[in-house]
Amino acid sequence: MMIRLDKFLTDMGAGTRSEVKNSIRKGRATVDGKVVKKPEVKIDFDICKVTYNGEAVIYRKWEYYMMNKPAGVVSAVRDNKERTVLDLLDGWKRKDLFPAGRLDKDTEGLLLITNDGELAHRMLSPGKHVDKVYYARIAGNVSEEDAAAFASGIDIGDETPSLPAKLEILSADEFSEVRVTIHEGRYHQVKRMFQAVGKQVVYLKRISMGSLVLDESLAPGEYRELTKEELKQLC
Ligand code: URA
Repeated sequence: MMIRLDKFLTDMGAGTRSEVKNSIRKGRATVDGKVVKKPEVKIDFDICKVTYNGEAVIYRKWEYYMMNKPAGVVSAVRDNKERTVLDLLDGWKRKDLFPAGRLDKDTEGLLLITNDGELAHRMLSPGKHVDKVYYARIAGNVSEEDAAAFASGIDIGDETPSLPAKLEILSADEFSEVRVTIHEGRYHQVKRMFQAVGKQVVYLKRISMGSLVLDESLAPGEYRELTKEELKQLC
């Protein structure tokens, strides 16, 4: 497919459009081994070999990353005060990446970062009811009555109660460990569900979203591209 050289490089995160245009005019880009100084030159991104500042640049229409979001960063593209999950991506990054869905600042775990709006919509759309599984530590002794309340839907202060959710108790004492599966993505949903049964979430980590399962070899803050298999299952 044909695309302007400056758009190709900007899409791939080489800089802003005007920075890239200036650099191209200064001779910093080559196409198929020849310096090209015209930003408007159209190239075929499937065939042409492009370098920028001496580095090969491969055009990819869609990108998909799985991140183990650490606590302390916000799930946003940019923020005036806080570090965002996109600030954790190294090197060049294209400008159209965004986190597909939000985790609270203090929540850890699975976050999909992509530029594929359609896929994100399919995963997040309330009508799709994609399962989201969380591991949580709770201040309080979580009981089978709590599990029954989760299973029948809880009033968490919204217009409608939460949809039935699965609460599995992994251990229960003064502090409890649980796994929760919800099918929606309301604001602070897991925390509000526990609040509604008089308990407090002290640690929350997302383990999976639909078919996508957090790669436990990723330390908090680390990320990797989705494998072909993960992508096939999501699509
Ligand atoms: N539920 C919450 O309360 N917080 C999250 O970050 C995700 C789900």
